[in-house]
Amino acid sequence: MLKVAVLISGRGSNMKSLVNACQQEGFPAQIACVISNKPEAQGLVWAAEQGIPTAVVNHRDYGKDREAFEKALHAEITKHGVRLVCLAGFLRLLTPWFVTQWLDRLVNIHPSLLPAFPGLHVQQAAIDYGARFSGCTVHFVRSEMDHGPIIVQAAVPVLAHDTEDTLAARILEFEHKIYPQALRWIAEGRVNVHDEKCFIADVNAPPSTINPCS
Ligand code: GAR
Repeated sequence: MLKVAVLISGRGSNMKSLVNACQQEGFPAQIACVISNKPEAQGLVWAAEQGIPTAVVNHRDYGKDREAFEKALHAEITKHGVRLVCLAGFLRLLTPWFVTQWLDRLVNIHPSLLPAFPGLHVQQAAIDYGARFSGCTVHFVRSEMDHGPIIVQAAVPVLAHDTEDTLAARILEFEHKIYPQALRWIAEGRVNVHDEKCFIADVNAPPSTINPCS
């Protein structure tokens, strides 16, 4: 059973999707703790109600000392015997020190088809650019923001009258599918990184899609 820490900063809907997956019979991972850098993160309440250990490591307590914050975060994570860290709407950029500690054991979800549209407000950025598809990406974390070997992506169409909120909702539905999927593959030992690319054992390529249709 792979022990997992989930790091959040807010609502925590992706954390919920991981917890719900882990509660299914036979799922090969267990959420050992949910940690937030913000005491007011709504997801903490829900996680505690599920009986999951929760903690706050408030980045504000460490001022500009990012490494001190990350050392405290690392100490909190390691208390729980964790082997994998899942960022789920954790909106702090992590330093190379933390990323190296957890190399290829630190996963993030991002609401765009990386490497397109890293950063914040990415659904609006996809609309503004006129992208025909956007989507979401689960990837191993590297020091550069929203960058690293891609484990799985899902594409959704960008529709003519989309707003940031309608596109975000369409993407979020797929975030909740692909993050548990990625966690399952990792926990099953099927994800390998070579030359900064992920290879997943025993999966077939999905069909391709074209938008707009002819
Ligand atoms: C999600 O859409 C996630 O992909 C995004 O923040 C949201 C958190 O929602 N993460 C990033 O933008 C990371 N660069 P949630 O708290 O409901 O999971």
